[in-house]
Amino acid sequence: MRMAQAASFLVLLTLLAAADARRQQESENACDKGWECSGSRFCCSETITDYFKAYQFEQLFPKRNDSLAHAAGFWDYQAFITAAALFEPRGFGTTGGKEMGMKEVAAFFGHVGAMTSCGFGVATGGPLAWGLCYNHEMSPSQSYCDNSNELYRCAEGVEYYGRGALPVYWNYNYGIVGKGIKQDLLNHPELLEQNATLAFEAAIWRWMTPMKWRQPSAHDVFVGNWKPTKKHTLSKRYPGFGATMNILYGDSTCGKGYIDNMNVIISHYQHYLDLMGVGVQHSGDNLDCADQVPFNPPSKNPDS
Ligand SMILES: *[C@@H]1O[C@H](CO)[C@@H](O)[C@H](O)[C@H]1NC(C)=O
Ligand SMILES: *[C@@H]1O[C@H](CO)[C@@H](O)[C@H](O)[C@H]1NC(C)=O
Repeated sequence: MRMAQAASFLVLLTLLAAADARRQQESENACDKGWECSGSRFCCSETITDYFKAYQFEQLFPKRNDSLAHAAGFWDYQAFITAAALFEPRGFGTTGGKEMGMKEVAAFFGHVGAMTSCGFGVATGGPLAWGLCYNHEMSPSQSYCDNSNELYRCAEGVEYYGRGALPVYWNYNYGIVGKGIKQDLLNHPELLEQNATLAFEAAIWRWMTPMKWRQPSAHDVFVGNWKPTKKHTLSKRYPGFGATMNILYGDSTCGKGYIDNMNVIISHYQHYLDLMGVGVQHSGDNLDCADQVPFNPPSKNPDS
């Protein structure tokens, strides 16, 4: 009896010691980069402000304060960096070295630019110069309320039209994203058109988080954290920019050939790669999702 007790005590001690060693190792591997990136091994390499400066943000989004832009004065560099800082310790823009970091920022903005552009039919600067023109949907055709969702019921008198940098639609999506960024977006979806930091935060959270069960995140498929199984390769889903569109938009954009919807997002990504000095030749493999089978069976599409 005593032997057994002593033995289990020893086991406990060993376990505690192992946990202690692990903690120590983690903190040894963690780095401190001040407010922007701290306490994570991802912070040990370059952070976003090291390779993406305010002037570059201006180059990517030169028309956002134009008199024709619908959200003039809303979006700014500091809001992006403040939001990104929350995710850099988890690997956003800090995974796989400087070039991969730059590519990930360009890819994220490729989506954002395409989703918030008003450049189509506007003459000056070309269609790719008009990202961050909007911060909300202009003429919603409906209120995007689905009360069959019991978890996130619509609040009285609140509309769930598209808002933000990667626009969020529908009560249940506001509920899920709000939970993710710890804001009551179900009752206050307007926060995403009033506060640019929160709008970027919600968008980066979506980029970093698997949206459906047993799906990787856009971040994971882009930086190479995700290894497709045979089921995925049979569905032509491979790591790369194409799969990020599959995750974020599914069958509204992917598996339909070279449709405008998809091409416009790719053009924004490549335009930003060029402006950031990375160059389109580094767009990566599997750039499109023209032949990809959507990740999950089509359901009600959150982005239409
Ligand atoms: C656009 O507006 C933002 C927010 O007011 C400001 O920070 C930024 O300097 C402006 N940029 C240009 C190019 O006017
Ligand atoms: C936007 O939201 C952030 C995060 O909650 C907050 O710190 C900031 O003060 C807000 N900005 C404005 C202008 O309300």
